[in-house]
Amino acid sequence: MSPVHLFKAALLSSALALSGAALAMPDFSFNTDDLPEDGRVVLYLAAGGELSALGIGLDAATGGRVSNAIEVTGFSGELGETLTLPAVAPFREVVVIGAGEDELEARDIHDLGGFAAMAADDDEGLTIIVDGLEAAVDDIGAHLALGYALGDYSFTTYKTVDEIVEDGEVTVVGSSRSDHRRFDNDLVHLAEGITLARNLGSEPGNTLWPQRFVEHVTSAFEDVDDVTLSVLDADAIRERGMGALMGVGQGSIHDPRLLVIEYRGADDEEAPVALVGKGITFDTGGISLKPNENMWYMKSDLSGAAAVAGAVLAAAKRGEDINVVGLMPLAENMPSQDAIRPGDVLTSMSGRTVEIMSTDAEGRLLLLDAVHYAQVEHQPRLLLNIATLTGSAARATGDEYAAVITRDMTFSLEMMEVGEAAGEDVWPLPLHPNHFTQIESPIADIKNTGGTPGASIGAAVVGTFIAEDLPWVHLDIAGVDWRDEATPTAPVGHAGWGVRFMDTLLRREAD
Ligand code: BES
Ligand code: MN
Ligand code: ZN
Repeated sequence: MSPVHLFKAALLSSALALSGAALAMPDFSFNTDDLPEDGRVVLYLAAGGELSALGIGLDAATGGRVSNAIEVTGFSGELGETLTLPAVAPFREVVVIGAGEDELEARDIHDLGGFAAMAADDDEGLTIIVDGLEAAVDDIGAHLALGYALGDYSFTTYKTVDEIVEDGEVTVVGSSRSDHRRFDNDLVHLAEGITLARNLGSEPGNTLWPQRFVEHVTSAFEDVDDVTLSVLDADAIRERGMGALMGVGQGSIHDPRLLVIEYRGADDEEAPVALVGKGITFDTGGISLKPNENMWYMKSDLSGAAAVAGAVLAAAKRGEDINVVGLMPLAENMPSQDAIRPGDVLTSMSGRTVEIMSTDAEGRLLLLDAVHYAQVEHQPRLLLNIATLTGSAARATGDEYAAVITRDMTFSLEMMEVGEAAGEDVWPLPLHPNHFTQIESPIADIKNTGGTPGASIGAAVVGTFIAEDLPWVHLDIAGVDWRDEATPTAPVGHAGWGVRFMDTLLRREAD
């Protein structure tokens, strides 16, 4: 084989690896009251609560050994407390999980599903009994299955031995017909959107670059109705004058792209919601090179773009009654002979110029061209941008919250509510006129860094390119997109943070 053929073959096989990673998750089935006769069973028990009707039946089948174990171990029922009882005949295992004492919100039910996945993840399938759960939302069984799917996620594309466990079937007992419908027509697509985002964020830099991101997302959207994908390649990006986006990518052998996904689920005249996500497929820092420590994890510096793809996928697949446009500016930030340097001046699509103080402040550069393009081409009624933008935001708001910045506090408080309902919390950081003053440049219109605090400065750079009267949400997810410790619904690694937040926002905007 000639080297060219070898190269093509390598491309082809990794393209297959990508599609093989598909949006796999366990098969779920829902039934009303058929207790299993064997196997592995999960059962929930509220703090100070009693066994549910089905729980009592299950306990009877074990000759009372489950209720006995609950009593002698002093099981309290605290949310997430897990009691694993192996070999309680006729069952291989019974897992009792605490459901806490408060009325359950959707996010709590997701956690309960996640706890089941953590406690009982195996290839032989299991039954989850949900009839005793009391919640503030409908379709508990469907939400539980969503949480299970999220907690069950692992990225195994590059495992060639062991650890690849085929998922068994998960049966949700004590559920209703409406759970089944809600899951199949709606929540399964949210799980798929999050899985897509996690897969993209977990891919290493040597398998995922801008064009690859486009291909991966394109295949996820195959056969989805009312969706148009368009891709601006390097020539088109240059032609449209997006010198900031082009500049970030010019040091890499992999050209930048701007991927645009339009979903039209509402009337044609209705202005869309624009979602803009940072898609740096690897961030070395460029000529302002990062230190090696933890640089590997800059493979997930495309989290914002990945979350946008996931959120639009979920909305389109369930047929949400809304128009959405997702914009994903994609580039690889590399140091090279061709790379931009500190001190360079780039001309953005808006015509305004940006002096580069640090090539490592690259996210705001591709965002500022993408948000301008979004406003010119799509006239949105609301624009949200989402990015792993600053270490500063990560330090300020930690693992628990993403940073949200808007032009007025009331709007930020509304976004806190969205986050709370979504199970993805946000905390406001300020945006002050002084932050705009701090990015004035002596030789260009603005510069790309300067002053403190870093998260607000990053927002000011992007905000300079957003019309003042356009409702605008800036999410800095540098602290939350990657988890060193698992949560019930997010295993260690890339969390796909933001899909649920944007999903919740889109549901509200559709009302
Ligand atoms: N991708 C990084 C931000 C980041 C840092 C994400 C840590 C996740 C964890 C971004 O491109 C960056 O390098 N930001 C710089 C900006 C600075 C040069 C003004 C930062 O935060 O240090
Ligand atoms: Mn950077
Ligand atoms: Zn970055």
